[in-house]
Amino acid sequence: MTPDDVTPYDMTPDDVAPDGMTSHAELGLRADRVTREAGGRLIVDGVTLAPPPGSTVGLLGPNGSGKSTLLRILAGVLAPASGVVTLDGDPLRDVGRRTVARRVAVVDQDATTQVELSVEEVVRLGRIPHRRAWSPSTAQDEEAVREALTRTGLSDRAAQSWHTLSGGERQRVQIARALAQAPQELLLDEPTNHLDIQHQLDLLSLVADLPLTSVIALHDLNLAAMFCDHVLVLREGVAHASGTPSEVITEELIAKVYGVRAVVTTLADEGERFTRPSIRFLRN
Ligand SMILES: Nc1ncnc2c1ncn2[C@@H]1O[C@H](COP(=O)(O)OP(=O)(O)O)[C@@H](O)[C@H]1O
Ligand SMILES: [Mg+2]
Repeated sequence: MTPDDVTPYDMTPDDVAPDGMTSHAELGLRADRVTREAGGRLIVDGVTLAPPPGSTVGLLGPNGSGKSTLLRILAGVLAPASGVVTLDGDPLRDVGRRTVARRVAVVDQDATTQVELSVEEVVRLGRIPHRRAWSPSTAQDEEAVREALTRTGLSDRAAQSWHTLSGGERQRVQIARALAQAPQELLLDEPTNHLDIQHQLDLLSLVADLPLTSVIALHDLNLAAMFCDHVLVLREGVAHASGTPSEVITEELIAKVYGVRAVVTTLADEGERFTRPSIRFLRN
């Protein structure tokens, strides 16, 4: 399969709602044939990504394949050179920044804060798009902060200084901040990087179970297979393959995209309710 053979990544059924007005395909956040150039070359090259609302999508690909750039384009942080990102059918550039900030939460790789803040104060930053300028936080704001801390297991760390946290704890605080934002779309760039295995599983379970659309750049193919409904594999900025983890994560793909030998078997999960690929890497 060459990149040219890959149909644009669109998992949305193109059925039309009963009112005949809204196509399902227009709901949510989607990128259509977006490109981005840097250093005189295309680092994202005609990528289409249309996650069905509520799904968990894994963004896979080697270092430098364009995952972070695509997430920034989706978040509206970087403008595409061509192509368009839409939110419920409206081009992102026409949607106000505040509206985007209320809808879309981003957890960057290695997010940091310069000022001295407590865990709770960092999480409260997630409420800014929902607050009027200069107005104090409301009971609803505080409830959202409390719930985000609970969901991420950070309630008893609320008063601790951000600067005294471990890398993994900081990562969880960033997730909590994103949850406090009450987004409908959540974009995460390698959120499991600093986490031990238990916290990797906890975090991805939490994200996959949230009733919102998540796009997660991930390195770990087994985690992608466990938690993602769909995966998109980038290779040198191009969408190389897309589909369910079982369709996409194969020995051939791993050899071609990552240059690594692997044995892929099928595992049954949850009493055979569904199967997923399980990947074991071999020494080259
Ligand atoms: N501002 C920039 N100038 C030049 N090259 C860039 C710039 N930003 C990203 N790149 C290059 O684009 C490619 C894709 O980067 P990135 O999206 O960070 O990939 P990934 O997240 O998959 O590792 C990399 O080769 C990177 O070096
Ligand atoms: Mg990256």
